[in-house]
Amino acid sequence: MSRTETGLEPARITILPAAVADGIAAGEVVDRPAAVVKELVENAVDAGASRIQVGIEAAGQGVIEVVDDGEGMAPVDLPLAFLRHATSKIRSLDDLRTIRTLGFRGEALASIAAVARVEAVSRPRDGGEGYRVLVEGGSQIAAGAAGSPVGTRVSVSRLFFNTPARLKFLKQPATETAVIVRLVGELALAHPTVGITLDVDGRRREPATGGRPLPPSTTRQPPRPCSRSTMESWPA
Ligand SMILES: Nc1ncnc2c1ncn2[C@@H]1O[C@H](COP(=O)(O)OP(=O)(O)OP(=O)(O)O)[C@@H](O)[C@H]1O
Ligand SMILES: [Mg+2]
Repeated sequence: MSRTETGLEPARITILPAAVADGIAAGEVVDRPAAVVKELVENAVDAGASRIQVGIEAAGQGVIEVVDDGEGMAPVDLPLAFLRHATSKIRSLDDLRTIRTLGFRGEALASIAAVARVEAVSRPRDGGEGYRVLVEGGSQIAAGAAGSPVGTRVSVSRLFFNTPARLKFLKQPATETAVIVRLVGELALAHPTVGITLDVDGRRREPATGGRPLPPSTTRQPPRPCSRSTMESWPA
């Protein structure tokens, strides 16, 4: 009888611990800074925003910030948004047949927060106070009331701080920035009724649209600095 048959040999297959499985799942959603921009802008579009301001610093390695004037989230919902499989967009498999939103998996914010530091501040359009949460590496570090205009601001820093392999495979900053500029151009063209702006290192950039004209709703407001100072005022 072999050692396997006698049950002496330990199984080679094991169920991964939740933290490892979550890290792998996060990597499928977020593989580079542009993926973060895409998920955050799609959330803002789903929230019915008419203006979306995207800001990046250091090719997304410094800060990625997306500010929208959409429907916002209530204080009770904001921390839930960072849990896996947490979504307001579907309730059952049947809903998948009629879905009209860009997202529905309830994965994006949880995945981004698993591999970065994320501050989200939101105030719901239908009344109520502003609220803020800070999540890093999947753990909520702080939460509390915060002044905020109606809508949502999500700021992502320390991207891939806990996944060095991802960091190693990032392209040169100029390349990662170019991917983001092109992506924002595509998003602006895909959502012509939404004014989407992009600031790169504090300077307004025309989203790259491959020569196609930007929709008139893409407003040309002055650039707004990313809120690094706000993030640094939170506990480490
Ligand atoms: N900018 C936003 N404004 C208002 N609500 C938001 C915003 N971003 C996220 N949310 C809320 O948080 C929930 C979770 O967002 P998340 O992106 O993780 O999942 P999703 O959009 O439902 O699905 P997917 O993982 O496919 O993107 C959303 O379903 C939505 O209710
Ligand atoms: Mg989403």
